[in-house]
Amino acid sequence: LTSTTQQGVAVDAGQVRGGAGNVKKQLSQLFEVSLRTTFPDESNVEPLVAVSQKFGDYQCNNAMSMWSKVKGKTTVFKGGPGSIGEALARNLPPSEIIESTSVAKAGFVNIILSNKWIAKSIQKMLVDGIGTWAPVLPVTRAVVDFSSPNIAKEMHVGHLRSTIIGDTLARMLEYSNVDVLRRNHVGDWGTQFGMLIQFLFEMFPNWEEAGDQAIGDLQAFYKASKLKFDEDASFKERAQQAVVQLQGGDPQYRRAWKQICEISRQEFDQVYRRLGVKLEEKGESFYNPYIAGVLEELTNKGLIEESEGARVIFIEGHPNPFIVVKRDGGFNYASTDLAALWYRLNEEKAEWMVYVTDVGQSSHFDMLFSAAKRAGWLPSDNATLYPKASHVGFGLVLGADGKRFRTRATEVVRLVDLLDEAKNRSKTELKQRLENNGKIAEWSDEELEQTAEAVGYGAVKYADLKNNRLTNYQFSFDAMLNDKGDTAVYLLYAHARICSIIRKSGKDVEELKKVGSLVLGHEDERVLGLHLVQFSEIVEEVCTNLLPNLLCDYLYKLSEKFTRFYTSCQVVGSPEESSRLLLCEATAVVMRKCFNLLGIVPVYKI
Ligand code: ARG
Repeated sequence: LTSTTQQGVAVDAGQVRGGAGNVKKQLSQLFEVSLRTTFPDESNVEPLVAVSQKFGDYQCNNAMSMWSKVKGKTTVFKGGPGSIGEALARNLPPSEIIESTSVAKAGFVNIILSNKWIAKSIQKMLVDGIGTWAPVLPVTRAVVDFSSPNIAKEMHVGHLRSTIIGDTLARMLEYSNVDVLRRNHVGDWGTQFGMLIQFLFEMFPNWEEAGDQAIGDLQAFYKASKLKFDEDASFKERAQQAVVQLQGGDPQYRRAWKQICEISRQEFDQVYRRLGVKLEEKGESFYNPYIAGVLEELTNKGLIEESEGARVIFIEGHPNPFIVVKRDGGFNYASTDLAALWYRLNEEKAEWMVYVTDVGQSSHFDMLFSAAKRAGWLPSDNATLYPKASHVGFGLVLGADGKRFRTRATEVVRLVDLLDEAKNRSKTELKQRLENNGKIAEWSDEELEQTAEAVGYGAVKYADLKNNRLTNYQFSFDAMLNDKGDTAVYLLYAHARICSIIRKSGKDVEELKKVGSLVLGHEDERVLGLHLVQFSEIVEEVCTNLLPNLLCDYLYKLSEKFTRFYTSCQVVGSPEESSRLLLCEATAVVMRKCFNLLGIVPVYKI
């Protein structure tokens, strides 16, 4: 038995079932059987199962299209799509998942899930762990290329977005048991290094003994050397010579280059440490040795042509060609990306290459992927087969004035300062809150600090991730640190409150998981329970479409559904106490997993 995933890749159904969490997939499998029984002559009809808004929890939408297929050929379904729907419902194999079905006139099969099954699934997850709800994806290894700032230039808010979005996607794929290569494709190669190295040699002849001290602030150093480069023609010439020395491997130039890279790296690491992001650097320089061979292959395949002294690949639909060798014979961003793509496919055996950059680079990636398809590296029918490459584009970060985000005047924002401000603000507010409710004495300095970090950095991440990534978003400390509404602060506090409900009950939840039994008696309990079991299919959708905002949406709705349940159902001291505590615990577990996937550290007390 095989089923078809959204990507059109055949997956063994047993494996899918092993994933256990994905309700939509499990229902699809049931309807697949029913479709085969109902239409023995039609092979490979893909079941169309979707979440339903009205008459059921889910619905199956195959009847209409099956009707137009079999209309003239059969006498069995005289009643039209409605009678096909009836048959599909009747031919479903017995399953504990489904409580009941009903068929609409147009043939839609509405499905109500069994309360018992929902409750049992949640309790099983509590016992076996949230790992059992991980999606099963048809990929074993992926590269996520994200963050990727440029050495010696400033790391800006665009790189911050890339870092936050890329890390989340990597976490979701890792949770789905994909081997993820987290790649920091830093700009550590190129003509600016000739300028920087030459400047270093001339201004700080004793640079090797002076170490980091010679360069000091790398951005100021960059500016000063750029100024000299633009104004002093003979320096410019010496700088261009220096590039040749560096690329030729001269040890002294290599040492200077390494030192410059190291200073940048330390700055980047300060940001990564605050955000808790792990990356493995393989900068542009790493791929340099592979470029010549890759271009040779593309030349032999007839892709590369001469144009105005440069070597280029013409790509249909693009007014300008993809320049792979500059007029001066040098390689560039494009040649490096071709070599990197080749390396990832052939040496690293990645099946999925995901690139996270601003949407301004979409045409670069479109040309890159088109070239790879023409070279036969990637299948040409996009999005249906692996290996595949995806560009995860995102919009601009705007300031309160709606313009490109900057601090005072034209100065760029130092990311470390930005993150520190988020933390400091959240600390001030947290202290105020604790003073107001008389709890400040119960908090150690360390706890305050850790909570302020979790909330502050979490707020920056969540404010970014909750938007559809393609849109521009407005950066506002006030909005992201609001403790009401769709913010990390609100969600983290909501989680802490659930934890405190459980703590105050005085019950041992570990024990309850084993001996208690979860029952979804009240309507609001059922609504919450249904939302919980939909976790897996949402994560799978995020992975498939590379849209983290769907998980933020899910998380926010989860907290709303919890609030509704908690408002209408007494937990502590009620006859249903142990069942309801289990539901609280399951909500907390799923919320924590959401936080974890979004790169946010949970908070347990407020
Ligand atoms: N360094 C580039 C920039 O700052 C981003 C690199 C993205 N990755 C890639 N393989 N091109 O815009």
